[in-house]
Amino acid sequence: MTAKEIRQQFLDFFSSKNHQIVSSAPIVIHNDPTLLFTNAGMNQFKNYFLGNSIPKSLRVADTQKCLRVSGKHNDLEEVGIDTYHHTMFEMLGNWSFGDYFKKEAIDWAWELLTEIYKIDVDDIYVSYFGGDDKENLEADLEAKELWMRYLPEHKILPFGKKDNFWEMGETGPCGPCSEIHIDNRPKNERNEDAILLVNNDHPQVIEIWNLVFMQFNRMADSSLVALPNKHVDTGMGLERLVRILQNKTSNYETDLFMPLIADISAMSGIPYGENEKTDIAMRVIADHIRAVSCTIADGKLPSNNKAGYVIRRILRRAIRYGYSVLNIQEPFIYSLVSRLASIFEEVFPEIIQQEDFIKKVVKEEELSFLRTLEKGTKLLEFHIAECKKTASKLDGKTAFELYDTFGFPIDLTMLIAQENDTEVDLEGFEEELAAQKNRSKQASKKVVSDWIETKYKEEKNEFVGYDFNNVETRILKFRQVEEKDDEYYEIVLSKTPFYAAGGGQIGDIGTLSNSDGETIEILDTYKENDLIICKALEIPKNIDDLFTAKYNNESRNSSTRNHSATHLLHAALRQVLGTHVSQKGSYVGTDRLRFDFSNPGKVSEEDLQKVEKIVNDKILMSLPLEEFRNINYDEAISKGAMALFGEKYGDKVRMIVFDSDFSAELCGGTHVTNTSAIGLFKITSESAVAAGVRRIEAITGVEVINYLNELEHIVNESKTLIKGYQNPAEGIKILLEEKALLHKKIEDFERKEAKILASEIIKNAEDFKEFKLLVQEYEVDKASKAKDISNALKDHFNDIITLIGFKNEALNFVSLTVIIPKEVSDNKKIKAGDIVKDLSKLIGGGGGGSPTFATAGGKDLDKLPEVLAKGKEILTNLL
Ligand code: SER
Repeated sequence: MTAKEIRQQFLDFFSSKNHQIVSSAPIVIHNDPTLLFTNAGMNQFKNYFLGNSIPKSLRVADTQKCLRVSGKHNDLEEVGIDTYHHTMFEMLGNWSFGDYFKKEAIDWAWELLTEIYKIDVDDIYVSYFGGDDKENLEADLEAKELWMRYLPEHKILPFGKKDNFWEMGETGPCGPCSEIHIDNRPKNERNEDAILLVNNDHPQVIEIWNLVFMQFNRMADSSLVALPNKHVDTGMGLERLVRILQNKTSNYETDLFMPLIADISAMSGIPYGENEKTDIAMRVIADHIRAVSCTIADGKLPSNNKAGYVIRRILRRAIRYGYSVLNIQEPFIYSLVSRLASIFEEVFPEIIQQEDFIKKVVKEEELSFLRTLEKGTKLLEFHIAECKKTASKLDGKTAFELYDTFGFPIDLTMLIAQENDTEVDLEGFEEELAAQKNRSKQASKKVVSDWIETKYKEEKNEFVGYDFNNVETRILKFRQVEEKDDEYYEIVLSKTPFYAAGGGQIGDIGTLSNSDGETIEILDTYKENDLIICKALEIPKNIDDLFTAKYNNESRNSSTRNHSATHLLHAALRQVLGTHVSQKGSYVGTDRLRFDFSNPGKVSEEDLQKVEKIVNDKILMSLPLEEFRNINYDEAISKGAMALFGEKYGDKVRMIVFDSDFSAELCGGTHVTNTSAIGLFKITSESAVAAGVRRIEAITGVEVINYLNELEHIVNESKTLIKGYQNPAEGIKILLEEKALLHKKIEDFERKEAKILASEIIKNAEDFKEFKLLVQEYEVDKASKAKDISNALKDHFNDIITLIGFKNEALNFVSLTVIIPKEVSDNKKIKAGDIVKDLSKLIGGGGGGSPTFATAGGKDLDKLPEVLAKGKEILTNLL
């Protein structure tokens, strides 16, 4: 049976058990912060297990592309060295979402393996979960009993949490599992009991199928919470199953890998199966090209960040093996993509659909890494020779440079050094590595992949968007960019109607579509090194297609209107304010325009109105655009064109004129063909930007109507609130006058109240020697009351030696007032100001005043009783 048939039989079998057959989810995960890649068939169903969403069908089966090279499940280092681990592998799975459970899962697994695939019952061993005391989980005796209907007890083996409790990641759905292992040793080589070899890394006694009974959710605090329903999640490695059924001793000898290995062997001229070292290299490459192709097809390019970096590492591992073990020093891995595409043709057609694209990406990566490897190898050889001369270690800095700049993993550097009897300063390397990790954490990253060129790369990148809204075009090259949480592609076209941000005007948005109806949104356009670059979240499936590029009319019309209005505004400002006005910056968006210009001071309301009127007059005059697209710079200047300071112009320039006596500017932006298209112009604000630079913001066209509607709405609402006034401003004025009057009355009342309160307070004064002394804490309902009472005491009762602490807990308010009668102050040399100063420190504040009256604020409310006691002590001592 071919792998294709084996895969199909699995799906047909579960289809006959009423399972809906679904396609594989993408191998790259885009919206789950806990996972970069699909690492198990159940990932795409996670939400069903958690009860977050409801599945369309309660029974599902599929083959899923998985990648286990990062996070909890990471097999990378084993891949190729052994014969049964892979980076990318297919996981055949059947699922029950709250439907059937252990019995059916076990029965059907048995039926499929023994009756359909006809695996010898003697070769089958199973495991079940033996329980875990720490987690308080019991052994899964139910699964054991179910298996005992098919197998003798001694072939049903209990294992602990590590092997038989399946978890997707640090958090998420999980549960006990039961695995099926196959003894694939030749019958005559079975001297050791297979029971001892299960779960023991034996290359011929291997697990092929895992039946997980999902019951729990692992929470972030690592506790287990029961799921709302019980589910089944099974996963069988197709590559291992095929190897058993095709009776091979290695996954790589099956028809899933052998065609790739045969190609590698032909390219390197080295036979497979004769030398372990070169065999490993071939396995690594055959395996890795599958992972890399699938991830690229699913929209992720090699890069220096996150998922992109994982892909780059896998590909570079393959390149290194090819370079140093198979001795192939030029790109060749990319050429395996065609073979892979045909192996996967029916099951993963995305590879064949994007074959050229994937090849291009892989080849570029190979080219650049090979150059790096070559340079790095030379550098390493040089340093090793130096070390030998001085009998020293290869320093950590060099090892790190090799790692960081040249992609040499430290173990490769150590291996090469060792072969040359040289040691590496590993500690120094680790230090450098830690320092770099720290640095890169600090830096906010923008990671840009290398450009990938298409066969049209020689064509000219040319802007045609002054004259055309849409144009037929080709993609010349593209690349992927990752920025914080943003991931997108940059695309360079041959002919492009999209205006690239420049001259203050924002870049165009629009679409790129082909005749098959595939449409890519262009989200922005900008220039880099004179290339017009379009930003998009995706790239077309077939990058070599003929495309129609079309800018968004509405958005372009808005920015165009605003750009022409900016020219009119500039000219009007010079007319009204004087020719000292010159442009200092501008922003021409779709919703508004902003113009910064030199002017010594604020522009008066009157002048702003004049400017606004001139611009609107020019609009109403319907001035036609005069465009001189390719005029000599000198000629343009002699025709009165304004050139901007700090701008670099070539010999040939573009000049934009609206009424040659009014506005002529050198400009690359887009403009209305007639000023009437601007509609209306309205200044919305005037402000300062910097010394001598003012800013005007304005709107045009439909934005002015929106603005007027909004104003109208505000006026109408005000009229409804202030009934009886045609002009609501009149009404508001009268209301404010009334309010001021009321406010004054309240203040008068509060002062009178304060006097009454003060007269109450002084009743608490005690006799001390020949004096009257008042030390008291007093609760006020607002801060101003403390002031009013203090003033009332000062003005009307100033013959008493007074220390009052005012407070309000809710407001966290505390203040002190000290009054010393003039005579006492003079005779006893007691100064209210001094006393307040000392005391206020104790409540974390400060204040002061005259010898007779002083106040202070503070912070530490709870210190008040202590402060008052202290104050009393000071006063009585002084008296
Ligand atoms: N989730 C389990 C695994 O990945 C079974 O599909 O092994």
